Amino acid sequence: MHIFITGAANGIGEATIDALLEKFSSAIFTIVDKNERALQQVCEKLTRRGVKNHGIACDLTEIEGLPDVVRRSRAALGEIDLLVNNAGVMIVEDFSTMPWQRGKMMLDIHFTAPMRLISEILPAMLARGAGGIINVASMAGKALLPGCTWYGASKAAIGHASEILQGEVKDKGIHVLTVYPGPISTDLERSARAGYEENWVSRFTPVGRREELARRIVKAYLAKDTVLAYPGIYDSARHFHSIAGWVVQTFAPRTKGR
Ligand SMILES: NC(=O)c1ccc[n+]([C@@H]2O[C@H](COP(=O)([O-])OP(=O)(O)OC[C@H]3O[C@@H](n4cnc5c(N)ncnc54)[C@H](OP(=O)(O)O)[C@@H]3O)[C@@H](O)[C@H]2O)c1
Repeated sequence: MHIFITGAANGIGEATIDALLEKFSSAIFTIVDKNERALQQVCEKLTRRGVKNHGIACDLTEIEGLPDVVRRSRAALGEIDLLVNNAGVMIVEDFSTMPWQRGKMMLDIHFTAPMRLISEILPAMLARGAGGIINVASMAGKALLPGCTWYGASKAAIGHASEILQGEVKDKGIHVLTVYPGPISTDLERSARAGYEENWVSRFTPVGRREELARRIVKAYLAKDTVLAYPGIYDSARHFHSIAGWVVQTFAPRTKGR
């Protein structure tokens, strides 16, 4: 099983590789990340464990280069069975002071790049009638977090697209899982937290563990769940938005085949 995962040199992605290996012991990995040093360390660790892997150091915001990244991955390890869009960066800052280019960068990492990767990888999955996609969105795409105009909107976009795509491909042998993490203890969460003043809410906000989230992602994927929220307390917030989504998915007309 060839798994293509982004942003796995660190944090949730790195933990997800370990959780995937627990269930798919013969899995092989393409790991795409811009943090070259951490990427090399993760690849070396996997090689020592006897896990075949191919690291590609690249910045996902360079959208035009992504087809070549996929080509190199296929050339090294063959056709891709599971795509995990996980890479991310969370810059907390008011819209009025953040240069739009930094906001656009978040939109590209969280939305445009995952969509471009899906557009490159999905056709072969559809041709085989088998494959999987896991998109890591965020509860920040559901809650209206201050300082997250760009981050929250980019995560809402990938979450929305991912859930629509699941409806489109579910009867074609492809499973799409959309993940909505709340705060998870990683470098990203620590740097985002530093962008807020402390108050009673921030002090008591439940924070999850990356290993537990990773274990739940793999469990949800195997169970063919379509959506996962963790820590569980955030699941109720997600449901208020989901009722409308379910009604539309169930009753809206299908697209015309071309
Ligand atoms: N942790 C949370 O509280 C939380 C909550 C909700 C959703 N999420 C989402 O979960 C995902 C993983 O987050 P995490 O907490 O594990 O973050 P993390 O520990 O910072 O790991 C993210 C990895 O992605 C890489 N990356 C960032 N921008 C990239 C780019 N343009 N091209 C290629 N690689 C890039 C990072 O490299 P650098 O180290 O060089 O930046 C890092 O190795 C993200 O999509 C995030 O938005 C996280």
